Amino acid sequence: MSAFVRVASLAELEEDTPKRVEVDGTPISLVRTAGEVFAIYDICSHANVSLSEGEVEDCAIECWLHGSSFDLRTGKPSGLPATQPVPVYPVKIEGEGPDAAVLVSVTQES
Ligand code: FES
Repeated sequence: MSAFVRVASLAELEEDTPKRVEVDGTPISLVRTAGEVFAIYDICSHANVSLSEGEVEDCAIECWLHGSSFDLRTGKPSGLPATQPVPVYPVKIEGEGPDAAVLVSVTQES
């Protein structure tokens, strides 16, 4: 069973600007891009660096320290130095317009 937790409203998420949230102690980077919202584990798989401080481009988030980019849909790195994926989580949007709620479940990786 997966429990979805409200983490933000849609209006709080700026396009291509990651927002760090926590769900049950799990740090998550929320990214709104290309009309969708993604949730990816906020710590790079290469070292202890917050991915939400990186840049978003082409549905990927770049680790600012050494430049590996992680696909927001799969968590897979595009290239070295990171070799391991980071978890990604399912996102649900409830409601309409800017007040719509963004929900994430960390009990189930997508
Ligand atoms: S810490 Fe992220 S690529 Fe090295």
